[in-house]
Amino acid sequence: MPTSEVKILAIESSCDETSAAIIHNGKVLNNIISTQSVHENYGGVVPELASRAHQQNIVPVVDKALKNAAIDKNELSAIAFTRGPGLMGALLVGASFAKSMALALDIPLIEINHMQAHILAHFIDDPKPQYPFLCLTVSGGHTQIVLVNDYLDMEVIGETKDDAVGEAFDKSAKLLGLGYPGGPKVDKHAAKGNPDRFSFPETEMPGLNYSFSGIKTGILYFLRDKLKENEHFITENLDDICASIQKTLVGMLLQKLRKASREYRIKNIAIAGGVSANQGLRKSLAEMAEKEGWQVFIPEFEYCTDNAAMIAMAAHYKYLAGEFVGQEVSALPRMKF
Ligand code: KG4
Ligand code: ZN
Repeated sequence: MPTSEVKILAIESSCDETSAAIIHNGKVLNNIISTQSVHENYGGVVPELASRAHQQNIVPVVDKALKNAAIDKNELSAIAFTRGPGLMGALLVGASFAKSMALALDIPLIEINHMQAHILAHFIDDPKPQYPFLCLTVSGGHTQIVLVNDYLDMEVIGETKDDAVGEAFDKSAKLLGLGYPGGPKVDKHAAKGNPDRFSFPETEMPGLNYSFSGIKTGILYFLRDKLKENEHFITENLDDICASIQKTLVGMLLQKLRKASREYRIKNIAIAGGVSANQGLRKSLAEMAEKEGWQVFIPEFEYCTDNAAMIAMAAHYKYLAGEFVGQEVSALPRMKF
């Protein structure tokens, strides 16, 4: 197969988005996403329901991606899928589908690490970061500072030792009665609030690591005490509470990112993952970049949250490197780099 005609179908099913994308010679042609709304009623992703919804959505989503790109399945060079990390049952749907399709078409299979793909989302559009760069990867399941030396050469230099920052956003939102997913809702209210009104205890961690579980408990006790004094405390102060929580979480993220940048002497800074959509984070990052002389890279909004376009981008580089896997491969919920 000449490298001038590389057409890859990529599948993402690690959490609650069923997504498929087609990449042609390194250019992403589309990014079809079916979001599972069923979880909204439960205040969080229910793994069993996620698997069932993936099972229902995967064929229509793949079919739509192929038709939208006007590509026949027989033209495909390879099939890529998210192997992990993620929810086991959810990953299995994508993995099994990708394996079956690759076997039926007799084409190579490519496994992708979801966290690596979040970082490679920066290479879908311009401007692309220069190597080496640091990437703050912030999602519902992960919070990592990654040293990126090359497309497939990455090292985690700092990470959370308990909750992910997205989880801290979501759990705070739940305490405030805002529903799921809470991150965007906290973000929306925070835009109208005073971030200096309240403060919450931060957990200091050594090195470049994070801890977000303490702040969740701090918010819980804070609200419990305030609600004793005034049962309408949350509704009367919602914007200020959200702004204060957001300021605390963003401050924790950026403090370690600055430390990493100074220690590694790297001023090319990228952010990735669902929480990189946060307006407060983007604003504070821009302010810090100004002071520290950073060049900052943030992907388009649709490539920040879970999507198959980033899986496709990672798959393109793996295809060029000849990194394929056999049919015995299975999902890896705790997959590392
Ligand atoms: O990367 P992602 O789509 O899925 C995972 O791999 O986890 O990230 C989802 C997370 C959720 O915790 C969600 O609340 C958070 O990203 N998120 C936000 C915002 N948009 C999504 N958090 C804060 N502000 C936002 N605007
Ligand atoms: Zn993700």
